[in-house]
Amino acid sequence: MYRRLTLITASALITLFAVSMAFAMGDGNARKGKFLYRKNCRTCHGSSASDLSPSSKTQAEWKAMFADTSKIKCSGDWTISEQDLNDIYAYLHGYAKDSPSPASCS
Ligand code: HEC
Repeated sequence: MYRRLTLITASALITLFAVSMAFAMGDGNARKGKFLYRKNCRTCHGSSASDLSPSSKTQAEWKAMFADTSKIKCSGDWTISEQDLNDIYAYLHGYAKDSPSPASCS
């Protein structure tokens, strides 16, 4: 009986941990983020809007911007899942101006 309870508790904790990790900002996949950024953001950024690339900002600036994405001027123009935004953030932040490998989109 106790063994079973321990097992259930342990697996519940592991699930909870995995889920909370998945939604924590900063665990995004930069490779997917690059693709998602090109698909969802470069449609404007680079033509009708500012030529925004990872190297346009420092890591601290990206972090501050993505702390509250609703404050980004164009956030009303896109509907993107939390996970996809995490991936985009991982790309922008990971290749920022002051990162080891700054990236531009052009
Ligand atoms: C419909 C066009 C459009 C799309 C799509 C779009 N943006 Fe924007 N974005 C703008 C405009 C317009 C501004 C405000 C002026 C500017 O920076 O060009 C802006 C501003 C921003 C800013 C603030 C820039 C700064 O230096 O203050 C960020 C960050 C940003 N967008 C990120 C994104 C991200 C991330 C995506 C994709 C998820 C995205 N945008 C998609 C049009 C767009």
